Amino acid sequence: MNSFKTVRFQKGAGKPFLLYYFPETRIETDAELEGEVINMVILETKNLKKYYGEGESLVKALDGVDLQIEQGEFVSIVGTSGSGKSTLLHMLGGLDYPSEGQVLVDGKDISALKEDALAIFRRRKIGFVFQSYNLVPVLNVYENIVFPIQLDGNEVDRKYIDSIVKTLGLENKVNALPSQLSGGQQQRVAIARALAAKPAIILADEPTGNLDTGTSQDVLGLLKVTARKFEQTIAMITHNEEIAQMADRIIRIEDGKILKGGDGR
Ligand SMILES: Nc1ncnc2c1ncn2[C@@H]1O[C@H](COP(=O)(O)OP(=O)(O)OP(=O)(O)O)[C@@H](O)[C@H]1O
Ligand SMILES: [Mg+2]
Repeated sequence: MNSFKTVRFQKGAGKPFLLYYFPETRIETDAELEGEVINMVILETKNLKKYYGEGESLVKALDGVDLQIEQGEFVSIVGTSGSGKSTLLHMLGGLDYPSEGQVLVDGKDISALKEDALAIFRRRKIGFVFQSYNLVPVLNVYENIVFPIQLDGNEVDRKYIDSIVKTLGLENKVNALPSQLSGGQQQRVAIARALAAKPAIILADEPTGNLDTGTSQDVLGLLKVTARKFEQTIAMITHNEEIAQMADRIIRIEDGKILKGGDGR
């Protein structure tokens, strides 16, 4: 097969970059590496605005966001409560339409898609971990995890699912219903579900919000390892500065805008 692969490089304190290569091609020297570098933006917003309400009750949840995220990058999004983080994540995932501006995924303007097409796009490309877990109450843990894969009529990679379940410490809970789980356990199921279909993009809203420090770091570790393995891009909202620091880059948002020097790039 003639498809190319990507690898990530970071030299010293410099900006990380991605290298695209064909597996058949052996690249040996640094000079050769430099020659092959292409940065590929997978997620981009242009002057993105989302307003709610009107008149006196107008809320500018997003007010002109220009953002670029490269393929394979892991960014965290931080900001105070109500600053627009969840709104931004929803827009990036095509869950809602912008009031103005564009969201480009792989260079394609998803805000121009009709609702049906958008739903298919989301299911194929994006793994969501929401602030509320959105588990299906009548399905057990395992069924919840593989549900999106089955919706698309795809084969379930049992070995891979088992490894996620194990890393997330859910192996004794696969037959339990969501109502029989703690908040943190439900959160881990939601993370497993997002990872299960190996989506190109993972959008996570406080994925570690209900987990203790140790588990949070394990979950983050898992996200990083699988993201690298499957060349996934992650945008993750967090309130926790320590967790935020585990990402490649931190984007800071305030009053619907990316802060100057907040590294929207
Ligand atoms: N559906 C909606 N209708 C009206 N206003 C909304 C809606 N969704 C969000 N908002 C408003 O938009 C602003 C941004 O909300 P958002 O949920 O993006 O904040 P956030 O940064 O995720 O906050 P938190 O950290 O508390 O989750 C807030 O002022 C919120 O009240
Ligand atoms: Mg939020």
